[in-house]
Amino acid sequence: MNEPGAPEGGTRQAAAEARDRATAGDLDLGKDLTGLRDLTRAQVEGILDTAEPFKAISRRKVKKVPALRGRTIVNLFFEASTRTRISFEFAEKRLSADTVNVSSSGSSVQKGETLVDTARNLEAMNIDMVVMRHGSSGAAQFLAERIPSNVINAGDGRHEHPTQALLDLLTLRDRFGRIEGLKIAIVGDILHSRVARSNIWGLLACGAEVAVCGPRTLIPAGIDELGATVLNRVEEAIEWADALNVLRLQLERMDGGYVPSLEEYNRCFGVTLERLRRAPETVAVLHPGPMNRGVEIDSDVADGPRSVILPQVTNGVAIRMAVLYLLAGGRPATAASAVA
Ligand code: CP
Repeated sequence: MNEPGAPEGGTRQAAAEARDRATAGDLDLGKDLTGLRDLTRAQVEGILDTAEPFKAISRRKVKKVPALRGRTIVNLFFEASTRTRISFEFAEKRLSADTVNVSSSGSSVQKGETLVDTARNLEAMNIDMVVMRHGSSGAAQFLAERIPSNVINAGDGRHEHPTQALLDLLTLRDRFGRIEGLKIAIVGDILHSRVARSNIWGLLACGAEVAVCGPRTLIPAGIDELGATVLNRVEEAIEWADALNVLRLQLERMDGGYVPSLEEYNRCFGVTLERLRRAPETVAVLHPGPMNRGVEIDSDVADGPRSVILPQVTNGVAIRMAVLYLLAGGRPATAASAVA
């Protein structure tokens, strides 16, 4: 595929392509981004590096570059979303792609049409990419194997949420200047969390140490086999970590009593100012959202100086631009010229 938005010829372009050829084998993401589990460190860092120049677009008065002009992208959101859906849409529009949004309500999915039939009908209208959020684990991979368009997983069941983890990694790299050697504690409902899985794989790939912390009922069996340490007390996690990634209780995915009550959860595992007072001021707090204030995180932490929750959201647009650009055939080395 041609370099998206690239000028014809030119020494700058040629030099960038030459530089890129040396590492292209390591960085090529392939057709789809369905998860971080199988990505190499070079691929993860390549996405983060590609996002860097894209950050500037959203700060400009005219927030648009022609990098994906002429590409058609369908956003298929079969589950509720605020940040991911809007962030992908901003990323697509700022790269000048043509976008269409489809949700289950109001589409023929409500009449029983299958996922593959929906996608094949969209493909019959000559689309290039599908961004999909779905309640079933594995749905993105299932679709990716059945349609020629690029598929990007915007969260599938309890499985993966790769662009969320990538924006978390970018935010950590912004804050600490590195990911290698950082100690990251993921605190909360790990059992139902696609964000936790993608973060564990992405962080470990980049050389961070990862711990998970939550009630035993919300820690999946075998999580240590992924390379994460299990910490039983939130105080222990706070003492150990350079950054806490706080996850909400996913009540909509729970089919039983995993915690006695939300008040009890906050009392035992809530990330509160009182608990954080004992930690160094450098400890950062992330949360993928949506937050349940007063349950997994207190407002004075979410809105306090340690919080990087809104910078995470800002970085989400740049990360999604980077993923779209790379899957469309762009290269990390040419991202800077694509935004110029
Ligand atoms: N973090 C995240 O996926 O948020 P949304 O559900 O609002 O997209």
